[in-house]
Amino acid sequence: MNIPFVSFVPMENELKEDLKSAFERVIKRSWYIAGEEDKKFEENYAKYCGAKYCVGVGNGLDAIMLSLKALGLGEGDEIIVPSNTYIATVLAVTYIGATPVLVEPDIQTYNIDPEKIENAITDKTKAIVPVHLYGQPCEMDQIMDIAKKHKLYVVEDCAQAHGATYKGKKVGTFGDAGAFSFYPGKNLGALGDGGAIITNNLDIANKVRALGNYGSDYKYHHIYKGNNSRLDELQAAFLTEKLKHLDRMNNERIRIAARYSSEIVNEKIILPEKVKDRVHVWHIYAIRTKDRDSLEKYLRENGITTNKHYPIPIHMQKCYEDLEIKKGKLPLAEEISSTELSLPMYYGMTDDEIDYVIDKINNWKN
Ligand SMILES: Cc1ncc(COP(=O)(O)O)c(C=O)c1O
Repeated sequence: MNIPFVSFVPMENELKEDLKSAFERVIKRSWYIAGEEDKKFEENYAKYCGAKYCVGVGNGLDAIMLSLKALGLGEGDEIIVPSNTYIATVLAVTYIGATPVLVEPDIQTYNIDPEKIENAITDKTKAIVPVHLYGQPCEMDQIMDIAKKHKLYVVEDCAQAHGATYKGKKVGTFGDAGAFSFYPGKNLGALGDGGAIITNNLDIANKVRALGNYGSDYKYHHIYKGNNSRLDELQAAFLTEKLKHLDRMNNERIRIAARYSSEIVNEKIILPEKVKDRVHVWHIYAIRTKDRDSLEKYLRENGITTNKHYPIPIHMQKCYEDLEIKKGKLPLAEEISSTELSLPMYYGMTDDEIDYVIDKINNWKN
């Protein structure tokens, strides 16, 4: 049996007609940027998340970067980020000229450890960017308490957590802004690049919109030195169709994860932990094992494709040599990057496919 790490085919087969009609709607209107589809999706997504405003942007990296910029952050400011995240979180910080301060995760949840945040705060710290990694919300009560105490902004990186909740409230609604990616493989994915921010603050929403539109609030009037980062009409139309199915598709991920968690039994493997007061939407089902590369090879030989999130920690990437963080300084990020393996997870995975993955892992002896 061949099992990909991710497949869009079951979703595409089910939604093909809806996606085609979305495409036709846009062609018929002959309006491709900043039009009715964008407006409709923004309204729907804000409502879905329980936020007042949503602003579509070009991708998830820009969603974080423009939020930080809208908050007035830049050179001379320190921004706290997790040491184990996708590099985009940190690129957003360095793009605006600010300094990222990497804080280690809680090894049980893989999310930034609030207990370690306060130690990293200096008089230059201006913001925290918690990442709801793999689809599990961070410990937001504690993070927001620290932010309030030290008067820090919070921009949530929700790129992997569309629809996830913490104590009943959707991610992205705790901080000043929530940043989303609609990269095709995300839980809510476009058919190309896309992103959005949500916020309850009209000034932030207006500023992000202007910054992503050449810094213009009114045609040919430029109040900021902005860039070009907009959600196009086609992607907004596709996202409107796909949003209708997000909860149902997340529930399928939750079902697959529950099967993995209850049926994978192999003493060499550490399974991910779900915290009880959260809805984890399982963008990634991350297991860990000391013999990760051998498990990866064994699964590949058995037709199962896996992935690693992420094989090289941020502080060991060539582009971040200037942070001067030596190997060994962030042991948990290093431990996760050398032991983590992501199992196949996508809407439409059949029971036979799930059985096969579980069976192969349970029979792995190394
Ligand atoms: C945690 C995280 N942050 C930010 C991003 C950036 O999103 P995009 O690829 O849409 O720029 C991604 C996804 O790639 C991500 O996983």
